[in-house]
Amino acid sequence: MRLAERTRHLTRFRAVDFLEETAELQSQGQDIVRMGVGEPGFSTAAPIVAAANKAIDEGKTSYTPPCGIPELRQAIADHYKRYYGLSIDSQRIIVTTGSSAALGMVCDLLLNPGDGLLLSDPGYPCNPNFVRRLDAEPQFVPVNAEDNYQLTAELVASHWKDNTVGVMVASPSNPTGEVISRGNLLALHQEVSGRGGSLVVDEIYHGLTYEDEPVASILEITNEAFVINSFSKFFGMTGWRLGWMVVPEGVADIINVMVQNFYISSPTVAQYAALSAFSPETMGILEQRRTEFKQRRDYLVPALRDLGFGINHAPSGAFYVYADVKKFTDNCEDFCWQLLREHGVACTPGIDFGHHRASHHVRFSYTEPLERLKLGVERIRQALV
Ligand SMILES: Cc1ncc(COP(=O)(O)O)c(C=O)c1O
Repeated sequence: MRLAERTRHLTRFRAVDFLEETAELQSQGQDIVRMGVGEPGFSTAAPIVAAANKAIDEGKTSYTPPCGIPELRQAIADHYKRYYGLSIDSQRIIVTTGSSAALGMVCDLLLNPGDGLLLSDPGYPCNPNFVRRLDAEPQFVPVNAEDNYQLTAELVASHWKDNTVGVMVASPSNPTGEVISRGNLLALHQEVSGRGGSLVVDEIYHGLTYEDEPVASILEITNEAFVINSFSKFFGMTGWRLGWMVVPEGVADIINVMVQNFYISSPTVAQYAALSAFSPETMGILEQRRTEFKQRRDYLVPALRDLGFGINHAPSGAFYVYADVKKFTDNCEDFCWQLLREHGVACTPGIDFGHHRASHHVRFSYTEPLERLKLGVERIRQALV
């Protein structure tokens, strides 16, 4: 069959391949410690589920306005007020079908064919594909542990090309869990806006940070950046497919047209359920889970180091550890397949996240309970002897 040329340039999302194989092995009765997935192991908090059931009982099953039900857009605005002290007009908030839809639409909005978007390498695997889908160019900037695995103003300046129109970053990041400090965010904003470009900040892992200093939102610095966020990670709602974006003044109208055309509206029941995501009761549950994630991180990082994995310093957020495996292998993909099929531990090969020293890295998620992580570490220990 004749398929469009651009489909040949899409790359696999290997974490999902590993997820499928993990599910297959589990269905055959194998016990797998799941350190590959990018979703919290907790099921969605009870008050959110109760709100969903109520919405279904009340027949709230029709399309909603494209940018989301007004109550949810306002609830998200209130969240910015409570947690960041920011007044954001709810008209700038657009509810989306997971942040994946938001990432795609922000690229639609900014990129003409041939334009370039600067991305960190390693970074979230789907972003280059959102760019390629538009016949635009993902422009990879290698980042290292010394840069906190994040883009800096200096890196942007040295990698900016004639066709570059913007920069996309995630803080905390996937796969490294590293954050961009407030000072570096400001410098990034100044560098990008000084060049007439656009800055997109994916804040999907906000709420899941483990150091004392709060992670800054780019919205504390400027209203000109695009912010991507989601109910998937901190709010534990991956399968509900609900995210949001905050856009600069004057942009919501065109996004409204995009949503009308591309998918009409986001899942209705999920939107009504998400109204309960910000309640004190839910927030209490989520805060407890955050504490548990921190305990797991504090266990896993030294445990992996003891086994010989290279981890510069403990990641500040998300639920990932990006570990250097060059002591064990030059081929992280084989390493991960072997760990999965022969030792019952799922993790994700570094080559999912880019090219830069990728084959020497593996991403471990700490989304399973501590006892399971301990079992996983023990299995890895045995695999390495
Ligand atoms: C950095 C980052 N952005 C966006 C997403 C997409 O998440 P969702 O579409 O579930 O909101 C993910 C998922 O793993 C991610 O890690």
